[in-house]
Parts: sequence; structure tokens; C-alpha cells
Amino acid sequence: MAETEKKFRAAITATARFLPDKVVTNADIEKLVDTSDEWIRTRTGIVERRFLEEDEPTSKMAIAVGADLLRKRGLSGDDIDLIIVATITPDMVFPATACLVQHGIGANRAWAYDLSAACSGFVYAITAGAQFIETGAHRRVMVIGADKMSMLLDFTDRTTCVLFGDGAGGVILERSEDGAAGLLDFELYADGSSVDCLYVKAGGSRAPATHQTVDAREHYVRQEGATVFKFAVSKMAEVSVSLIERNGLTGTDLKLFVPHQANKRIIDAAAERMDLPKDRVVLNIDRCANTTAATIPIALSEADDDGRLQSGDLLLMTGVGGGLTWGSALFRWGH
Ligand code: UT7
Repeated sequence: MAETEKKFRAAITATARFLPDKVVTNADIEKLVDTSDEWIRTRTGIVERRFLEEDEPTSKMAIAVGADLLRKRGLSGDDIDLIIVATITPDMVFPATACLVQHGIGANRAWAYDLSAACSGFVYAITAGAQFIETGAHRRVMVIGADKMSMLLDFTDRTTCVLFGDGAGGVILERSEDGAAGLLDFELYADGSSVDCLYVKAGGSRAPATHQTVDAREHYVRQEGATVFKFAVSKMAEVSVSLIERNGLTGTDLKLFVPHQANKRIIDAAAERMDLPKDRVVLNIDRCANTTAATIPIALSEADDDGRLQSGDLLLMTGVGGGLTWGSALFRWGH
């Protein structure tokens, strides 16, 4: 929407996160596949990740985040108008995991839907949610990124199983009180021509689950690592630089850069292209690994709790992932 047509700005008024208790170290993964702590650390930056128990669903994490968001902001479920859950690991094919969150937190007036954009899911979802605030249609929108990646991991494939973890994070969006804080600008993209370089082959309508698809291990995530790596390095930097430049900014104007956490080398390359001092980059890939739609809101919530953001600070979030999808959102912090 053009700047002049916006009725309101969508400000982030609360952040929260949930990480499962179970810690899985690189040493634990070494027992399952032919890998090493040294390879994983140096190639990705990952040291450990969290996994849910096998019988625990994604909604458990998303509901915990939703409840914590309400508690932190002093709201009740009835205050929420809309819930968007970004996920590629919903509890079920349908209904949406967002509906389970709606019920779980007693958001009795809210409508609710899931959004599937893999590792760009949170940037897509927060931008989508902001539109309902900006038009005046809604007062409070809850946006959650939640993924149980452990359910998609093939522990015979060392090229993927070392990379991911489980987790959830989220925000509440509300009308900015002073009109200055909130979502300033965004750029989002998709390119469906390269679906097969990062995907789960079976389980959808193209290849419904059969004994054969299970035997062929087609319900697990597959990735052409090097292809996605090159794409991610180029797009994370390109979209981040484009968004800050078109807003008349440079890297040093940003207080924090909250990137998708897939590989520390991808993040370092983007930060370098943006001329961003290292202390402005929020990193937690060492502890959480790649939690897909949850990486950005988990990192944001940690930075918020650590007091790294003050009113007026500029914050850039950038995601790149399956689809392929990518995008950035620029916020001014504050209510
Ligand atoms: O979040 C969604 C978007 N995803 C991403 O952004 C991930 C992008 N890709 C990456 O981060 C990297 O490509 C990986 C971390 C997945 C792989 O790192 P890489 O430096 O691109 O390694 P590679 O795939 O080129 O493999 C290098 C070598 C190969 O051995 P040879 O052929 O050189 O003998 C692999 O077989 O490393 C081997 N290798 C491993 N060795 C030990 C691959 N995985 C492992 C492993 N442990 N886990």
C-alpha cells in the first residue's frame, strides 16, 4: 500500500518464543550419521538444537508462544482479531494449526489461518498481518512462526539432518500510538521454478502417502545444499541492501539485523554486503539451528528480552528459503 493510503502503522508490541527442553548436540548427531562436530560448526555455525518429543505437535509450541504473548502484553484471548501461523510442519493437513492456537489461547473472536513460505514464512506472515492493521480492519494481530523440523529429518542423510531444529516465536501487531513506529517497508519475492532444490517430495496431492513413498523415504526434507547456499547468499544480501537503500539508509543506520538462521556463513556474507557492524547481527544458530519459520521471531524475542532494542531503533528482518521464497521487512521499534 502506498505510504499515503496507510491509515495506521503496524507496531510490534510484544515478542515471545518457545524452545523445547530436549537439547541435541552435534555429538549426539555424530552417533547417528557420518559427520563431526567440527564439520557442522565450521560449515554452518550450529553447535546444538532443540527437538520436541516425537508425540508432541507444532501447535504445542505455537500455543505456548501465543499464551506468553498475551501474558506479556496484559491481554486476553478476546483482544485478538486475527492469528497467522507461518509453518511447513502443521499438526495436520487441515485444519490450520492457527485454528488450534485460536482455541488453545481462547481467542474467541479471532479468525485464523496458516501461511506456508518455509524459511521466509515469518517475514511473509508479519507483512501480511500488518496489512490488516494498516487498513484499520483490525486492532490486534498475532503472528507466529512455528516448525517441528525434526519430523522431516532423515537420520540417514547427513547433508540435511544436521541442519535443523524445532521451535516457535511470535509477535503481537497493534496500531502504532505515535504513527512513527512499526512496519516501514517490505520487499517479498517467490520463484517457483526451483521447487526441487529444497522440498519434501511426498505427502501432498502430487504424491500422497503410500507404502512406497514411506519405503523410499520421500516424506523427509531434501536439499541441494550448494545450490540453495549460493541462492541464499546472493538473495539475503540483495533484498536487504535493496530495502535499506530505497529507504535512504545504510547498514550503519540499522540497530539490529535479524536474519533467517540457516547458515552462519550466509548471514556473515549478507552483513558484509550491508557494511553492518558484527554486533548489530542477531545470531542464535549455534543454540537453535534452523527452525525454518521460527528462526526470526525466536531471535527477535531474545534480542527484545536482552534489551537490545530501544524506541526509535531500526530493525531489518530477512528470510530466504523453500519455494524458493525470500524477502525483507524494515521496522521502527516502539509502540
Ligand atoms: O533454510 C532454508 C535455506 N537453506 C539454506 O540456506 C542452506 C543452504 N546450504 C548450506 O547451508 C550448505 O550448503 C550446507 C551446510 C548444507 C552444506 O555446506 P557446503 O559447504 O555447501 O557443503 P557441500 O554440500 O558442498 O559438501 C561438501 C562436502 C561433501 O563431501 P565431498 O563431496 O567434498 O567429499 C559432502 O558430502 O561435505 C560433505 N558433507 C558432510 N560431511 C560431514 C555434507 N554434509 C556433511 C555432514 N558431515 N553433515
